[in-house]
Amino acid sequence: MILDRPLRAAILAAADSALVRRVVSRYGFRLGAKRFVAGESADDFLSVARAVNAQGFAVACGILGEGVASAQEATAAADQYCALLRTFAQDGIDANVAFKLTHVGLDIDRNLALENAARIAQTALDTNNTMRLDMEQSRYVDSTLETYRELRSRYACVGAVLQSYLFRSMDDLRLLLPLAPNLRIVKGAYLEPPAIAFANKADVDANYLRMVETALEGDGYTAVATHDRRIVERVIALVEKRGIPKRGRFEFQMLYGISTPFAQDLVRAGYRVRLAVPFGTYWFPYLMRRLAERPANLAFFLKGAFTK
Ligand code: FDA
Repeated sequence: MILDRPLRAAILAAADSALVRRVVSRYGFRLGAKRFVAGESADDFLSVARAVNAQGFAVACGILGEGVASAQEATAAADQYCALLRTFAQDGIDANVAFKLTHVGLDIDRNLALENAARIAQTALDTNNTMRLDMEQSRYVDSTLETYRELRSRYACVGAVLQSYLFRSMDDLRLLLPLAPNLRIVKGAYLEPPAIAFANKADVDANYLRMVETALEGDGYTAVATHDRRIVERVIALVEKRGIPKRGRFEFQMLYGISTPFAQDLVRAGYRVRLAVPFGTYWFPYLMRRLAERPANLAFFLKGAFTK
């Protein structure tokens, strides 16, 4: 979310080009994606999850995938999440799951997505764990929040995500607060039109802080998901001022491969920190979003092409 809009738009537009997609899909994992992605298989993920647990981090597991076009693929993704939740319980891995509703069928039929998400929620409940619905592009916000409300009325273990770049998000937050929600607050990873989203980073950041402050006033649980050191420091000052304990009411979350030393400092200081660790073969859009967030990543990625 740091890039100026034109550069960000150019990277995300290039991501739609068939040639870029072909070249990056062929070589990108070796060149760049493995910095951000645990690997292509569940076994790759489980070994990374164990390693980051050993460093004191909790994990949010994400299977890479979105916008699936068949009910079979959607159901298979939900099956895989259920199997992983059972593995976490059996093997004592400190990980929950977070997924996109379009990965479990939202583009096909909202009821299919709801059914699949409910099956994952039931497994999370049965294994004494939690799950979260990621937030996608703005066209999915209403259906995602509607699905979240339906699931939340049946399962206390379900969380959602709000994006501070959208004008609407503070209102969404206030409407959800009576549910004592488990909410992850993020800045937002997609390119949204200026009619509905803050165009300036300073406004996104200010809204982020206001949203975290408001969420912490409620009875729910807040996941402060950002690598922004200034914001993390402001949140720490806020919880200290309000006497909110380091664990139990909120946690910090970061993405695997980004800001790890900073995350380690937070663990050492006694905070709960969860790393979102994705895996799977469909890593192209995820990698493109990480590249669009930071020009230095693009340089890192291209450098890889010439040094391997
Ligand atoms: P910002 O972009 O201001 O970056 C602050 C600092 O972090 C930078 O100066 C840099 O040091 C570092 N940094 C940030 N991004 C980096 C990158 N890609 N590579 C290297 N360094 C980087 N979005 C969404 O729309 N829906 C969702 O469901 C989620 N889910 C989610 C889960 C978790 C755990 C996290 C941490 C983030 C998300 N996001 C997300 C992504 C989020 O919206 C946002 O795009 C990124 O977190 C980057 O924004 P920051 O808050 O880090 O701030």
